[in-house]
Amino acid sequence: MAVAPDRESGRGGVPFAMKDPLHVPRERYYDRAFFELERERLWPHVWQMACRLEEIPASGDFVEYEICDQSIIVVRQADGSIGAFFNACRHRATELAKGDGRFPGGQIVCPFHGWRWNLDGSSSFVFGAEGFAPECLDPDDLRLRECLVDTWGGCVWINMDPDAPPLLDGLAPVPAMLDPLGVENMRVWWWKEVILDANWKLAQEAFLEGYHTMQTHPQIRRGPDDEAPPQLLAYETYARGHSSFRNGTQRVKMTPDQSLELSRIFWEGQDAMTLEKDIRVMASVRDHPDAAQSFPRLAVDAIYEDAAARGIPIAPYGPAMKLWGGEVFAFPNYFVLPQFANALCYRSRPYGDDPERCRFEVWSLTTYPEGEEPGPPQLQGRYAKDDTEHWGLIPRQDFSNIERQQRGLHSRSFEQLRLATEWERAISNMHESLDRHLER
Ligand code: FES
Ligand SMILES: [Fe+2]
Repeated sequence: MAVAPDRESGRGGVPFAMKDPLHVPRERYYDRAFFELERERLWPHVWQMACRLEEIPASGDFVEYEICDQSIIVVRQADGSIGAFFNACRHRATELAKGDGRFPGGQIVCPFHGWRWNLDGSSSFVFGAEGFAPECLDPDDLRLRECLVDTWGGCVWINMDPDAPPLLDGLAPVPAMLDPLGVENMRVWWWKEVILDANWKLAQEAFLEGYHTMQTHPQIRRGPDDEAPPQLLAYETYARGHSSFRNGTQRVKMTPDQSLELSRIFWEGQDAMTLEKDIRVMASVRDHPDAAQSFPRLAVDAIYEDAAARGIPIAPYGPAMKLWGGEVFAFPNYFVLPQFANALCYRSRPYGDDPERCRFEVWSLTTYPEGEEPGPPQLQGRYAKDDTEHWGLIPRQDFSNIERQQRGLHSRSFEQLRLATEWERAISNMHESLDRHLER
């Protein structure tokens, strides 16, 4: 049933609303009014991954998180807890901090007239206070305005809506799925970003399905023929827009050499999920007498033995490891793709005020031996989508289609996306959850 998108008859007054789970109106990716509705009704009301916890290890460390026209400063408190504040001076609105760094002496100082705040947001100093009427100096009014803030999965999450549900309720079932995989213990191996000329949703949809693997990533094709690969993944969608996929029960039988070769292609192609150290460990059981029969199991055993020997706090092996090689998506814009003691993470958000640009970040995480965790991570850089020096083949292949897709949306011939019922259901699940936010 093809239904033409219609601004007027949108559900709950939402323009270009989803009418069925099989089609996505193209305007959702570039229409100005739709983008502004997201800015007003989605982003200020949803839990967002604001930064990695290890970015702010010490009291006074801060990170600025920007989303659309809002800026939030996330600050490590003297007692080790985390605070999050709207980044606007209570005097004349100047942004108090930019980027990241440390507030010296535990004081947040406005660069304009020097008003100050303690790390907990309470006002500590007003320069020339005698020049202000008492009603302009009410301590409660001078307090920095807070956001909800909580931590999970090695990250700080913020929510601008004081009435939002608690973080773990908002993210459910994602934490329960990923906690047994030890994501809390992972640290940044590298962190990079790309600016794409595409809507933030379109960019991340390239990572919500494995259906594109056959054509986009032929080197990691796992199936014996062109028909099998999409069926190798099992997709699940959850309330609140979250979703996951994992390897299905159907498996392609591979020799140890084929397995190692595929792992090597993944490592070289993205330097995430499977790292060079894992390949070395897996290769050590290639000539094991049982390798022909049970190489995957032997390889995992070897990774556990290696972790134990090196003091790496890898999570105990259990049923959750079925998610290795799969993906968990936390609505609206955060992904975790776990494998062994590693994970690949993505975050997609609008860039500037342009519905057709986004900032897409990529983290490769791993678990370090206890006591050998690295210092605070730095964004390594912002690299062009086709930069062969800084992006592996796999992300470059993914990025290569996204801007072409955004351009294609504007074709006079095109009305709406047509989605596979199972393999692309995480995309419609995300859009339907988005509409529930926009309808409010
Ligand atoms: S604007 Fe911040 S102190 Fe004046
Ligand atoms: Fe891909």
